[in-house]
Amino acid sequence: MVQANTRDLSKIKVPEHVAIIMDGNGRWAKKRGLPRAAGHRAGAENLRRVINAAVEFGIKILTIYAFSTENWGRPKPEVYALMKIFARVLSQEVKPLKAQGVCIHHIGELEGVDPGLSQKVRDAVELTKDNDRLILNVAFNYGGRAEILNAVKQMLRDDVSPNDLSEDLFDSYLFTRGLPDPDLVIRTSGELRISNFLIWQAAYAELYPTPTYWPDFDADAFYDALVAYSLRNRRFGKTDEQIKSQNGSHSADSPPKPRRG
Ligand code: FPP
Repeated sequence: MVQANTRDLSKIKVPEHVAIIMDGNGRWAKKRGLPRAAGHRAGAENLRRVINAAVEFGIKILTIYAFSTENWGRPKPEVYALMKIFARVLSQEVKPLKAQGVCIHHIGELEGVDPGLSQKVRDAVELTKDNDRLILNVAFNYGGRAEILNAVKQMLRDDVSPNDLSEDLFDSYLFTRGLPDPDLVIRTSGELRISNFLIWQAAYAELYPTPTYWPDFDADAFYDALVAYSLRNRRFGKTDEQIKSQNGSHSADSPPKPRRG
């Protein structure tokens, strides 16, 4: 692991969009003989550190998997504890995040969520909408398959003709419309699954699994992930030679097609 004073941002290629599956809160707590909720609270505290690091690194978009549509199936007390943590974090953090230049986005469904909590999410989005230093894209009550089905349903309602259907048009029906695809997907806690997270958008993302549990994934661990990303050779289905002549570089680069704007 690097030391804070050895982080050299000029030596690495900083991805524009990083997405994180924040996993391992439960195991972090179990290792310490604590209840799972304590792990989630530690995870929430760590989120603050990681957001600060993302701002320091110059990342433009940070998407975090806070709660999946499948997470409702967890034991009721754990779901309740998580909702309480989300509500508390929103109450405490929205103003400091606004002052920091963070713009909060939400991806997922607010239907079925406690009305008080869904209002807090809407307020957070509204209050920070003019910021542009970092987009913090919160996947809350989010599922990739549900997102795709919703998009298809809406396209059918809009009478989209098969002749007009393109990847760009499809993108415009997703929760992430207007945002570029993630360049890097980090999953903490050693699991090697994508777990229904950005399954359309992460088609060409570089994957970075780390055994570190989420509450311990600090700024140095984040920097290590960016170093690993910088060393990747992104080919987007092309050959090494094509990419070299296109970019004159070996390291992680932008996709050949223009980013969605
Ligand atoms: C996965 O760990 C984590 C979650 C399901 C919730 C993520 C929530 C946080 C990090 C809390 C703060 C977030 C916000 C947006 C305020 P796990 O419980 O599956 O861990 P395990 O696999 O070790 O059991």
